[in-house]
Amino acid sequence: MANTILTGIKPTGKLTLGNYIGVLKNVKDLQKQGNTIFFIADLHALTLPIEPEQLRQNSIDIACFYLAAGFDYENGILFLQSQVDEHSILNSIMQNYMYMGELSRMTQFKDKASKIDNKNGIGLGLFTYPVLMACDILLYDCDIVPVGEDQVQHVELARNLAIRFNNRYGETFVVPKAQINKVGKRIMSLSDPSKKMSKSDPKGDIYLLDDIKTIRKKIMSAVTDLGSDITYDIDNKPGISNLLTIYASLKNISIEEACNNFKDCHRYGDFKKEVADVVCQEISKLQERYHYMLENKIYEKALSIGKEKAHQIASKTLKRVKEKVGLLDE
Ligand code: TYM
Repeated sequence: MANTILTGIKPTGKLTLGNYIGVLKNVKDLQKQGNTIFFIADLHALTLPIEPEQLRQNSIDIACFYLAAGFDYENGILFLQSQVDEHSILNSIMQNYMYMGELSRMTQFKDKASKIDNKNGIGLGLFTYPVLMACDILLYDCDIVPVGEDQVQHVELARNLAIRFNNRYGETFVVPKAQINKVGKRIMSLSDPSKKMSKSDPKGDIYLLDDIKTIRKKIMSAVTDLGSDITYDIDNKPGISNLLTIYASLKNISIEEACNNFKDCHRYGDFKKEVADVVCQEISKLQERYHYMLENKIYEKALSIGKEKAHQIASKTLKRVKEKVGLLDE
């Protein structure tokens, strides 16, 4: 049987080149590899303060970007998490099988909580985030979860939760596996290559909706390292290594091939210009398609069909779970 491949993006901020390289860029190829289920994790976006209008707009943007990246919604499922109630219901069941110790070890929780000044004001949803994420995955009997490296820990937790539940109640959930890119599993900030490029880091980010001139400028002023050779060395040349990763990933070549292309280049400026050309070319095509999806409201149709298809699958899993734990179904 074909694999089921599922992933989600949280509409907390503007999508970055990290999101694109980590997941979006692969959407088309993934669709050739199995049944694909992609969604917008809007309930997850509530774990940190966000303006309602912003949340709505970000959600639409993500839908449009999935489509712009080549996702064919007639042969896959695209939906909004909050429109499929089974996520929340399964969440309230599964939270009883996840341990507080496990949740408090999550890097993302520690990282996000550390940035909140008032420690009494850390929302419970931020802490229990991985339970809902596990439910997103387990509801669809999915085998493969393509994510960037930062989300692997959460997928591992979903995996453990599935195994724990199956051991207690018998085979119920498919045990999922994270899948990360060989090249581009973690794109770093252009201004500080020791930090991940993320939606909440305005400096050093390339946003998918930045104008092309701004993107070029950001790449040309990316932090680089001592020396002038273009070599891949994460410890000693993190800035150059990050740009090489971006370049290789967008050209679909290995890091070795990328280094080889620049073996005679000894000026960072020339190298950056080539990287900028590749990024700008790719993002401008993507933006064109994004505007098409937005202006023609293609996303509305995709989401409305997707919601029904997702519900069909999720409701069956939820029924199975309710039966296993002893909740009476109508
Ligand atoms: P989110 O919205 O933070 O990121 C979406 C996807 O982009 C990847 N990513 C990156 N990859 C490479 N380099 C980067 N700098 C970079 N930044 C982000 C992320 O790893 C992710 O794959 N919790 C998830 C959303 C989610 C989900 C799920 C994912 C909710 N439920 C179920 C998979 C399955 C998140 O916050 O991703």
